Amino acid sequence: MEHRPDPRLLALLAWYRDMGVTDALASEPIDWLARGDRPIREREPDPPAPDAARRSGPAPRGAGLEARAPATAVPARSFAAMPSAEAEDAARSATRSARTIEELRAALDGFEGCALRATAKNLCFYRGAPQARLMVIGEAPGREEDLEGKPFVGRAGQLLDRMLAAIGLGEADVHITNVVYWRPPGNRTPTPQEVLACRPFVMRQIELVQPDMLLLLGAVAAKHVLGVSEGILRVRGKWRQVEIAGRRIPTMATLHPAYLLRTPSTKRLAWRDLLAVRARLDEGARPGAAGNGSS
Ligand code: URA
Repeated sequence: MEHRPDPRLLALLAWYRDMGVTDALASEPIDWLARGDRPIREREPDPPAPDAARRSGPAPRGAGLEARAPATAVPARSFAAMPSAEAEDAARSATRSARTIEELRAALDGFEGCALRATAKNLCFYRGAPQARLMVIGEAPGREEDLEGKPFVGRAGQLLDRMLAAIGLGEADVHITNVVYWRPPGNRTPTPQEVLACRPFVMRQIELVQPDMLLLLGAVAAKHVLGVSEGILRVRGKWRQVEIAGRRIPTMATLHPAYLLRTPSTKRLAWRDLLAVRARLDEGARPGAAGNGSS
């Protein structure tokens, strides 16, 4: 006999999807409101989902709606967004004592000022080398990145890797990150508050990585790192300078690989930008030696 799904369940799933709920965190519902004020970390762990208990290490890509144990324990009070100024101050003081990239990761791990953390499974800090001549900054982790806890590991990331390989760069030659470190629910664009809360970390990260140049992927990264409001098609392809802790860093914005996947005809523009990056790397451009802001 043909088995038909209960239409009420289908309607409920459709409603979840429309609300931006794309993943199941655990096989049993969690009553967050019943947890009170005590940090979740101090409570007994939730029983692991049956298959999550067997699995160890990062989730495989494309894990779908599989049940997963909650990954990052977050104190309950961080489920509400902190006011922007307070979050930025908290971020600034958290970054101050970080002397290495791993200390910065530890500071981020303890940071509660970005509301995105509450809905994300994992912190996505960086991928690649701790220090690199080229630092690549994108927008925000997506679903695959959230599952693996690393930026740019999904389809867009695979295209990014091919683009970098085409100019002779592998993972060991670059440092890849985003303007926010946690996945926005449903892959929405991060809000200005969310970006501002992460900004002191991104700035400190740039200081610690000490890149010779920055490559910004897409309009959101360009807007928040360069402070420009024009569309990416206008902003891309021009060398600009970003001053961080007294260093002027040559910076190029280009099209986001996710956009290139949707609009393959624009790949030639991104290719032009990457060739400019390659040429500048070959020149051995050092911070402070940037041109006058034009290509
Ligand atoms: N898109 C981004 O901007 N960043 C990622 O890490 C993945 C997709």
